[in-house]
Amino acid sequence: MKRPSFHRLRRHLAGLLLLVSTSPALAALSADDLAERIGVGDPTLGATKALAAGCVNCHGSGAASTSTPRLDGQLAGYTLAQIERFKAGQRSHPQIARNASTPSINDAEDIAAWFASAAPMHGNGAAANADVARLFEKGDRSRDVIACVSCHGVNGSGAISGSDSTPAIGGQSADYLRVRLRSWRAGPQNGAPINVMNLITKALGDAEIDALSAWLSQLQPAP
Ligand code: HEC
Ligand code: HEC
Repeated sequence: MKRPSFHRLRRHLAGLLLLVSTSPALAALSADDLAERIGVGDPTLGATKALAAGCVNCHGSGAASTSTPRLDGQLAGYTLAQIERFKAGQRSHPQIARNASTPSINDAEDIAAWFASAAPMHGNGAAANADVARLFEKGDRSRDVIACVSCHGVNGSGAISGSDSTPAIGGQSADYLRVRLRSWRAGPQNGAPINVMNLITKALGDAEIDALSAWLSQLQPAP
């Protein structure tokens, strides 16, 4: 990997400090954890680029439309992997096809870093559904459903293991979660390297997916 120049690093750090000072949740993280969530991009440059490329029109502070995913606080590694799939045509959606195919790979790193450095997406904290909470925390062995928390982290805050980022899903838009869980259930998705979500969602019924999506969207994850 190319080493960032000292100048670039210093600018990067200044940007981080600025963002962190406005986000108490991120300020609580160690510098290493923060760097891991943000990746190699420059969030300060990313802010300008996301504005110029129009990403913020749809993915601005929270989702403008409920079927548009929130990206605030999303792990940069995951966001970047999805942008690469849109660019490669492995993932597509009429609303985003044109937009995500434009940023160059360096721009995408910066844009992903900027989203990752925003205060994490969070719901209204009203999540209360014992059945769904159990599924999230413990899974269901009888149906081969692995506990969501084991990969997506406490309250769905997202998790990093080695070079793999499992997305944050707590506080995500309920409509988007519902659409995604149903499409995973229908078959392997869009160039995803592992098919785990297809295996996990196969056992879930419609009502269960709806309840799970509503519950997840109400969580308030800390990074
Ligand atoms: C016109 C609205 C619109 C614009 C502009 C837009 N997006 Fe999107 N984006 C969407 C929608 C809708 C989806 C959900 C696609 C799906 O359901 O598969 C999405 C999905 C995504 C995802 C996947 C998120 C996830 O959780 O899997 C990423 C990453 C993303 N967009 C990044 C970008 C970037 C970067 C830009 C700017 C270059 C951008 N988008 C511009 C509407 C938009
Ligand atoms: C073994 C690990 C693992 C488990 C267990 C798991 N997931 Fe996932 N999940 C993933 C990975 C990895 C992805 C990203 C796949 C990709 O690259 O597109 C993902 C993606 C998702 C997405 C799409 C997020 C987005 O922004 O588009 C949702 C929603 C989701 N999982 C919900 C769940 C729920 C609900 C459960 C429990 C019933 C669960 N997951 C259990 C690993 C897991």
